[in-house]
Amino acid sequence: MSSLNEYRDAFPTLQQERNGKPPIYFDNACMTLKPQPVIDAVHEYYTRYSGCGERSTHWFAAQVDAKTEEARESIKEFIGAANVNEIVFTKNTTEAINLLALSLCWERDDVVLTTDKEHNSNLCPWQELENRGNIARHRVIPGDTEYRFSLENFKKALAEAGDKVRMVSLAHCSNLDGTFLSDDTVKEVVRLTREQNSRALVLLDAAQSVPHKKINVSDMGVDFIAFSIHKMCGPTGVGVLYGRKKVLNDENVIHPFIVGGGTVEDTNLLGHPSYFKSPHKFEAGLQHYAGIIGAGAAARFLMEVGLNRIAEHETVLNTALTERLSHHHEIRILGPRDARERSGILTFYLLKPATRFSDDEPDIDEKLDQRVNIMIRKGTFCVHSWYHAHEPVFDAVWPGFRPTLYRASFYLYNTLEEVDIFASEMKKILAEISELPTFGAAGG
Ligand SMILES: Cc1ncc(COP(=O)(O)O)c(C=O)c1O
Repeated sequence: MSSLNEYRDAFPTLQQERNGKPPIYFDNACMTLKPQPVIDAVHEYYTRYSGCGERSTHWFAAQVDAKTEEARESIKEFIGAANVNEIVFTKNTTEAINLLALSLCWERDDVVLTTDKEHNSNLCPWQELENRGNIARHRVIPGDTEYRFSLENFKKALAEAGDKVRMVSLAHCSNLDGTFLSDDTVKEVVRLTREQNSRALVLLDAAQSVPHKKINVSDMGVDFIAFSIHKMCGPTGVGVLYGRKKVLNDENVIHPFIVGGGTVEDTNLLGHPSYFKSPHKFEAGLQHYAGIIGAGAAARFLMEVGLNRIAEHETVLNTALTERLSHHHEIRILGPRDARERSGILTFYLLKPATRFSDDEPDIDEKLDQRVNIMIRKGTFCVHSWYHAHEPVFDAVWPGFRPTLYRASFYLYNTLEEVDIFASEMKKILAEISELPTFGAAGG
């Protein structure tokens, strides 16, 4: 049995109690907890050398430069990039994708393809291109019957876009149900896309993949990936855009949209600034140095734990919870039944809606939190578009059925004991719900 118990002690947030019980943190797809080496790295910046980077040459600044470049090197190693200058620091995944959408040199009628199950951060930036005067057109690839990525549907969408396809931007792992693209699928997407149009680019929204499994961007051959450090044990306010060096430095392909201090080699009053090469041409203004230095510490921490071990551990936990929840006929797990296809995410809904609790009674997520300190997430997880597109599926259960989705998501510090507590608490809550009056055709 995989156990990463030895790393739990590194997380101070797990060492506290409320009402005599420890926290059970199952909201990792949103944000992960931070281990001591990351906290120390951030603390060290603020207490030892909190100057700026890339500008001054003094004692403190030299340390900032050395530490931020060390962080870039660690991130490069973490994702298997070929060159350190392929790592651009951003604020988060959202900013990384927006940076691309707004910096790429679009041509009339260019097409962007995404799936029908993208986080808003990999949807709105492309929709905005269309809304703001047809800079590019956005088209959607429908999923398969279990809502997974469909290579067949991708081929159709690609054929429809023809040589106008310019960007294929896909969730590497879905934050809605945890389904993910295999390396072979990614490679096939890259091959087919380039075959269709040699100018076309492939971006992976890797917010939910990079923290949980070993990836190698060079091997996959994608042009870009975007991810957030706060989902991989690092500080908030830092993200990464990886881009192939050749693409990032090609002025006919990409031109930075946030410009100013730090990006510029030289300016004049005639209106023609010259910019540095990547990464600095994309990192405008003073940066979040503490966060970047913490990002390096997070990457090193995760490499020490081992990404393969993390992936394996999450599968064990997800399989156990899937098994326990599947005993309840009123619970529906979103996506494939087999937990190995859903990485560390388990999203479920009830056929007997929790709205049957009276208005002032806590919902399931609140009961779990208040009774046993279990923290999960409820809502549409920024994938409103998928939810709305699937309303007919819910209507088929019974007209007007709009289930509340609950998501438990795991990370390296979670344990089978925590899964057991979750399962037994859910059993009690379901028993309470079964006492309540029900409504609707299938709800009885
Ligand atoms: C798949 C996916 N993409 C993008 C994002 C956006 O990340 P951030 O809010 O850090 O920019 C998230 C966040 O949950 C996500 O899960």
